[in-house]
Amino acid sequence: MSKPVSICVIGSGYVGLVAAVCFAEIGHQVTCVDNDEEKVKVLGEGGVPIFERYLPELLAKHRGRGVVFTSDLSAAVEQSEAVFIAVGTPQGDTGAADLSYVEAVVSEIARSINAYKVIVEKSTVPVYTNEWIRRVLHRHGVKPQNFDVVSNPEFLREGTAIMDFLHPDRIVVGANSERAAEVLRRIYDPLTGGSYYDQPYALPGRCGTSVPAKLLVTSAQSAEIIKHASNAFLALKISFINAVANLAETVDADIVDIAAGMGMDSRIGPRFLRAGLGYGGSCFPKDVAAFHWVAQQQGVDFQLLQEVSKVNETQKEVFFNKVRAALWTLPGKRLAALGLAFKGGTDDIRDSPAIDVIKKLIEAGATVAAYDPAAMDRAREVLPASERMIYATNIYEAAQDADAVLILTDWREFAEIDLTRLNQVVRFPIVIDGRNLYKPQAMLDHGFTYVSVGRPPCYQAQEGKPRKLMV
Ligand code: UDX
Repeated sequence: MSKPVSICVIGSGYVGLVAAVCFAEIGHQVTCVDNDEEKVKVLGEGGVPIFERYLPELLAKHRGRGVVFTSDLSAAVEQSEAVFIAVGTPQGDTGAADLSYVEAVVSEIARSINAYKVIVEKSTVPVYTNEWIRRVLHRHGVKPQNFDVVSNPEFLREGTAIMDFLHPDRIVVGANSERAAEVLRRIYDPLTGGSYYDQPYALPGRCGTSVPAKLLVTSAQSAEIIKHASNAFLALKISFINAVANLAETVDADIVDIAAGMGMDSRIGPRFLRAGLGYGGSCFPKDVAAFHWVAQQQGVDFQLLQEVSKVNETQKEVFFNKVRAALWTLPGKRLAALGLAFKGGTDDIRDSPAIDVIKKLIEAGATVAAYDPAAMDRAREVLPASERMIYATNIYEAAQDADAVLILTDWREFAEIDLTRLNQVVRFPIVIDGRNLYKPQAMLDHGFTYVSVGRPPCYQAQEGKPRKLMV
C-alpha cells in the first residue's frame, strides 16, 4: 500500500462517515470532524448512527486507530494534507442547494490553514462552488500557494455505500491544478492501483487487482456537473419507466416485461428501470431540483428536469388512486402499509414516497398499520403514532384484519412473505403493490386480488376487475 495520507473529513453524516472509515480501510490516517459534540461522543464510544452494511465492522476495526472523531476542526485541518468537505447541502426553497453549511466550514478551514492543503468538495454541490470556495479562502487572507480546491463527488447509494466506495464504477476528480490532482491520485491509489484488493481483509466486490477502480481526472466544473447529471439521468430513467408503466396499463401490457426487453439493449441496460411508487431519498429529489436551478441561473432551458420531478410526484397520486379504486371508500378502512423507508436496505425516510402516500391515506380517513424492518424509529419522528397511525412489530401484525395490504418499499423481506399466512390474517385478500415485488400468478394462486404498477390487475373471479380512476 502507498504512503498513508493524513486526511480530514468534515461532516460525519451518510457521506462523511462512510468516506472516513473507507479512507482508513485503504490505509490512510483520518480525522473525522463534526460540530455536533453528542454525535462525536457517540461515534468515539462505538455508536453507529446510520444503517449501512459493513459500517459497524469497519468502525470497530478503525475507530481510534485509522479514524479518530473530534469536534476540533482547526486541529484536524492543521494536521491534515487533504480536507474533505462532506457537510449537508439541503434543498432550499427555490430548488437551489443551500450551501450555507459549506461556506461556514470553508470560513473555519481558512483560519486553520498553516501549510499547503487540498480542499476537497465531497458534498454534492452545484457547478462553480469550487470557484466560490476559492474566493472565500482568498477573502479570509489565505495565500494562493497554500491551497487548491478540487471536486471529488461521491456516487454512494444508501445501504450499499461502503461497497460503492471500495468498489466504485469510477472515481471522479475535478482539479484545476496538477499538484492537487496528484494528492487525490495518492489517496485513491490503493483502489486505482489495486493494492487494497490484494489485502487478506479486503471486502470482496466487483473491483480487484486485475480490474482496479478507474479514476477520471477533469476540470472542477466538469466534475461538479458529472455528479448532478448522473443523478438527474438516473432519476430520468425511473420517471421514464414510470410514465411508460402508466401507458402500459391502459393496454394491459406488462411493464416488467417491457423493462426487461428495453434493458437487454446494451445501450439502455436493465438497471433503474423498475417501475413503482417513484424515487425518494436525500439525493434524487434534491439533485434534480438543484440541477434545474443551476441551468436556470445559466440561462439554459432544461425543462426536461421539471418533467422528471412532475412524473415522480404524479406516481404517488397514481398509486393513491389504485387504493381508492380497489376499496371504493377509504374512511374507516384499515390498511397495512409495508415499508416506510425510501427504498429497501436503508432506515432513511427522507423524501420517502411511502411516507407521502401514508399521509394522504390518513388524510382521506383510513387507518394505517405500518411495518418497516429498519425505518420505524425515524418514521415515528415525522409520523407520530396515533389512533389512525399504528406501528406494528411485524408484517403479519400490520396485516391483521386489513382491508388491503399496501407494498410501499422494496424490502427483500416483503418479497418473501408467506402468502398463505398473509391470506389467513387479512380481512380481505387484496394486495396493492407499489414496488412490483410479486408475480401476479403467485398472487392469484394464493387467492389474492393483486394490483401493481404498469401491469394488468389480477382479481379473484368473484371480485370483478377493479375500476381505474384517472389521476
Ligand atoms: C442515489 C444514486 O444512486 C447514488 O449514485 C447517489 O450518490 C445518491 O443518490 P440513493 O438515493 O441512495 O442513491 O438510492 P438509489 O438506490 O439510487 O434509489 C433512489 C430511489 O429510486 C429510491 O427511492 C428507489 O426506490 C428508487 N428506484 C431506484 C426506483 O424507483 N426504480 C429503480 O429502478 C431504481
